[in-house]
Amino acid sequence: MTDPQLILAERVQQALGTAFGQEYASEDPLIRPSQFADYQANVALSLARRLRRAPREVAQAVADAMDHTDVAVEISGPGFLNMTLSDDWIAAQAVIQLADDRLGVPQAAPKSIVIDYSAPNAAKEMHVGHLRTTIVGDTLVRVHEHVGHDVTRQNHLGDWGTPFGMLIEHLIDIGESEALNRLASGDGNAFYQEARHKFDNDRTFEERSRSRVPLLQGGDPATLRLWREFIEYTKRYFNHVYDVLGVTLTDDHIAGESMYNTMLADVCDELEQSSVAQISEGALCVFPPGFTGRDDRPLPLIIRKSDGGYGYATTDLAAIRYRVRDLKADRILYVVGATQSLHFQMVFAAARMAGWLHDDVSAEHVQIGSVLGADGKMFKTRSGASTKLTELLDEAVSRAEAVIAERGYEPAARREIGRQVGIGAVKYADLSVSHDSEYVFDFDRMLALTGNTGPYLQYAVARIRSIFRRGELDPADFPGPITLGEPAERALALQLLGFGSIVETVAESSEPHRLCNYLFDLAQAFTSFFETCPVLKAEEPVRTSRLALSALTLRVLVQGLDLLGIEVPERM
Ligand code: ARG
Repeated sequence: MTDPQLILAERVQQALGTAFGQEYASEDPLIRPSQFADYQANVALSLARRLRRAPREVAQAVADAMDHTDVAVEISGPGFLNMTLSDDWIAAQAVIQLADDRLGVPQAAPKSIVIDYSAPNAAKEMHVGHLRTTIVGDTLVRVHEHVGHDVTRQNHLGDWGTPFGMLIEHLIDIGESEALNRLASGDGNAFYQEARHKFDNDRTFEERSRSRVPLLQGGDPATLRLWREFIEYTKRYFNHVYDVLGVTLTDDHIAGESMYNTMLADVCDELEQSSVAQISEGALCVFPPGFTGRDDRPLPLIIRKSDGGYGYATTDLAAIRYRVRDLKADRILYVVGATQSLHFQMVFAAARMAGWLHDDVSAEHVQIGSVLGADGKMFKTRSGASTKLTELLDEAVSRAEAVIAERGYEPAARREIGRQVGIGAVKYADLSVSHDSEYVFDFDRMLALTGNTGPYLQYAVARIRSIFRRGELDPADFPGPITLGEPAERALALQLLGFGSIVETVAESSEPHRLCNYLFDLAQAFTSFFETCPVLKAEEPVRTSRLALSALTLRVLVQGLDLLGIEVPERM
């Protein structure tokens, strides 16, 4: 562990234990970076009332009991503990970080974490909202795996339900091979709309569609074969999008709605027998306490409709039971649009009532905000509903190629860099704003080489690489020693040491934008360092020290971007 924030937190906790008794040794020390010192701990203020002592007195007692090796502690204001580290300590920690494969990221006690993300609907186009749940979910997977947890990816594909009646009939109408080709190429949305149009306007088609549904549900072999083909070809398109994006999802992670079909009757039985669910107006419902609708009437979570059909909530209840019982989840993350917030609150509450979600399992809805167009409405690709997501990604790549057009790369190199920059820009735009807020999809902004963008960070990496290239040096040959003379060197080293706690925070809070902000600050700290401190032209031993700092910055940036699923071009 090299992260000063984590190390100081431990020291403050030890001091709390010594000063006030062991029951205080696990208190959150509330440490933040500070403008008056390196760090500030605010725990004295939060504890004062419980201890019935003045905050400044509490702070003094902590300061007196604390290990002061390499750190100066001062009390300021109403009882802040201001902590300033010695330059030598920071430099020594940076050398340790540089020698560490994990770059100071602590190894967690492994937990079983299920992450539900992406989850497009087979009957419709994968839209830009699914793009965002896919990208954010995949980053959370990478971060949790890196921290040392066991992650199970679950792609809860929308691959079941009554619309498949009309989709199968439409497939038969236009001919299997023609239909399947269209699905594989991402034409699912138009296909769906055509089927819908016929369903609404053509009585015999409507009747055929309706009678197809029980055949599918009843497992009629010919119907099931068509349904399977439909899903199979649609999956090809999803996989193509995953491939272009470089996300880690494969067919192995598909656990679509259809998978739970055989469990639904049992889910309802179990809930009915335990009296968690009851019949209301012919439907089987759970009424989780605290949810009310209009007129303050209790809000039902309908798990079996009066016609005997099951819905989205039934499937999610089956999924939660499966994830806890079979997948042994300690924590389940649902990376899904914010608009489904009420649904998940009610599903979690019902699952707790049923005892499927017990106290030591946490279920969390990682709410994903909408992506908006320039008009402030839900984003639609330019030529309307029929434009495919793959075309949007292609456009990102060709625009990125244009951005680097004057750099004089060979066409093949330009295409490769354009791909990395274009896709990186789209991913970073999704990740760098807090996951629950909306943002406007804007190519010019996400592709800008300045500001908090993917290309800016990729460029920062390329610039550090070019320092080593110009000196004909290998970053791996510079393990230290590091000495900190200039303020910009000290600030850079301190920022580097913060990597471990940021990665930990992202895992705990499911907030990738914090890692983005950290990397952006790091790139800026490097720029200030580079502008004030010559590297290749410096005299020894300063040159070696600055090359070591540059090597460490390079590794932290590359590792950080990798956790975000963003590739870095060798040159840019
Ligand atoms: N297919 C759904 C949609 O597109 C998302 C499913 C999310 N996961 C879940 N367990 N409900 O809105």
